[in-house]
Amino acid sequence: MTFKAPANLTIVNHPLVLHKLTLMRDKNTPTAVFRQLLREISLLMAYEVCRDLPMTTRHIETPLEPMEAPVIKGKKQVIVSVLRAGSGLLEGMLDLIPSARVGHIGLYRDPKTLQPVQYYMKVPEDIAERDTFVVDPMLATGNSVAAAVDRLKEKGAKGIRLVTLLAAPEGIERFHKAHPDVPIFTAAVDSHLNDHGYIVPGLGDAGDRMFGTK
Ligand code: URA
Repeated sequence: MTFKAPANLTIVNHPLVLHKLTLMRDKNTPTAVFRQLLREISLLMAYEVCRDLPMTTRHIETPLEPMEAPVIKGKKQVIVSVLRAGSGLLEGMLDLIPSARVGHIGLYRDPKTLQPVQYYMKVPEDIAERDTFVVDPMLATGNSVAAAVDRLKEKGAKGIRLVTLLAAPEGIERFHKAHPDVPIFTAAVDSHLNDHGYIVPGLGDAGDRMFGTK
């Protein structure tokens, strides 16, 4: 397919990210290593995702003199993990933003229709007052995460960013059409989706590889 990347797509193609991603793609990489690599990549991605957070200053005193020092403005962020694979990205992001609140949303893909079915949702009550980072490692059809963002917007979430590890052009297009206001961060955009909705060449089923369930 001809793919026109939306302006608010950021590909975090830092050499460290790409190297670790290659190790994750390798089918011989064991579960524990896969999980550790995902944690490391998500920490590196969080750095980029937070780049344009609004800043303010706080009056402090260094050992030498008082100063107006930069701090991130407003309430801390909410990281919403799309179960179950989102938890892999969540860990690394929390390493970097430990005071972020955490939400969870559970959606599974109906294997026949590939449409999302919600089975769980719990997010902070004050989500509307925070920036929201939605984490889901695989942006495949885009249906599940678009539905997750629908639910979060219904709860008043604003300033939403989507953080994903790998994306398919089809998923980016579908998600961007549903939520053109939501910037997408990914480490790579792969070739296409196969008939089962898997990203090719991809890395297989992220949940299974992370938890060793297959
Ligand atoms: N979910 C995955 O875990 N992998 C894919 O390739 C697509 C969706």
